[in-house]
Amino acid sequence: METEQKRGEAARREILLVAAARPNFMKVAPVCWELQRRGLPFALVHTGQHYDANMSDVFFRDLELPQPHEHLGVGSGTHAQQTAKVMLALEPVLERRRPGWVVVVGDVNSTLAATLTAVKLRIPTAHVEAGLRSRDWEMPEEINRVVTDRVADLLLTPSEDADRNLHAEGVPARRIVRVGNVMIDCLRRYLPDAMARGVAAGLGLAPGKYAVMTLHRPSNVDHGPTLAGILEAVETIARRLPVVLPVHPRTRARLEALGLAGRAREVPGLRLIEPLGYVDFLGLTASAALVLTDSGGLQEESSVLGIPCLTLRENTERPVTVSLGTNRVVGVAPQALRTAAAEALDRRPAAREIPLWDGRTAGRIVDALTAR
Ligand code: UD1
Repeated sequence: METEQKRGEAARREILLVAAARPNFMKVAPVCWELQRRGLPFALVHTGQHYDANMSDVFFRDLELPQPHEHLGVGSGTHAQQTAKVMLALEPVLERRRPGWVVVVGDVNSTLAATLTAVKLRIPTAHVEAGLRSRDWEMPEEINRVVTDRVADLLLTPSEDADRNLHAEGVPARRIVRVGNVMIDCLRRYLPDAMARGVAAGLGLAPGKYAVMTLHRPSNVDHGPTLAGILEAVETIARRLPVVLPVHPRTRARLEALGLAGRAREVPGLRLIEPLGYVDFLGLTASAALVLTDSGGLQEESSVLGIPCLTLRENTERPVTVSLGTNRVVGVAPQALRTAAAEALDRRPAAREIPLWDGRTAGRIVDALTAR
């Protein structure tokens, strides 16, 4: 009798979702929609790691997210400041709301901070996008991923390689559920709208005849010679087809600070634009001939869209985008980049379907949460 009562209470307790930065919003939105559809109580917490209108607000509108129930307003700072601020602000929220689950996504500082805070309060915590590993400890995200997975209770993985990484780290099988890639739920839902918007045409670009580039990793934009080398390679690529680069705030600041902003503006064929919202950016990517990026999510989106993707890093935590998708990890050496771009444009890589990246991942996430 008592156990039944406890179970009833647990079922009524809300699921608390944590979102923080641009790449989180498209991972949280499908879970919100699914919880709404099933009439299950939930709360959305925005840590405020990203706060600009074009890094946050536009995503709430585009992705039909409810206004956050709690906004922690942590803003920018050093890694320790950001992590600590999220922990300090989230702890009283969790104590007050006592959710049945805390759900964190991705690998940003807020993901780690929220996980540490929740598990220490003994609140069951689930990590969406668990098990990805770049094995590159220079990346702050790798530290966030490894520590989050070590302490979270339920690890919801996107692909088989992620399960293998977790098994190799000694995680018991009962903590792992492979659910697929939740971002692809968003992609499939909004692709028709995105194509109808005609973003490329609005920028004066012919569909299939331009490249899209994104760049924001500290390892690529914080070091003058590296950033200058990337610009040099882009200069060659932009002779063959226009390259559109929505500029991340970190990159904009680094270009200015390193004295490269003028040079970037003068590269013929390189179009620097403001960051775009989710639907506009999806539309721009979907009709591109080539993607150049150091982002994680864009490797996955290009793979599903069948657009060749060159990853400007030495490694990827998303190897399935190379084995089954359209991705090539090419680094940032100018010559390697130029050659890889020419090859990708001359012979478009074939993409195969990636298991469970089917637009139904949020349903499997909610099943996994409610089953426990
Ligand atoms: C963060 C994540 C990274 C993710 C990226 C996507 C970590 C460790 N990094 O990196 O994994 O790929 O978001 O964008 O969590 N800024 C603004 N407006 C904003 C947000 C940031 O101007 O809304 C500026 C600030 O000057 C800030 C800088 O951008 O110092 C970097 O922002 P931050 O959130 O610290 O890291 P990202 O580089 O965005």
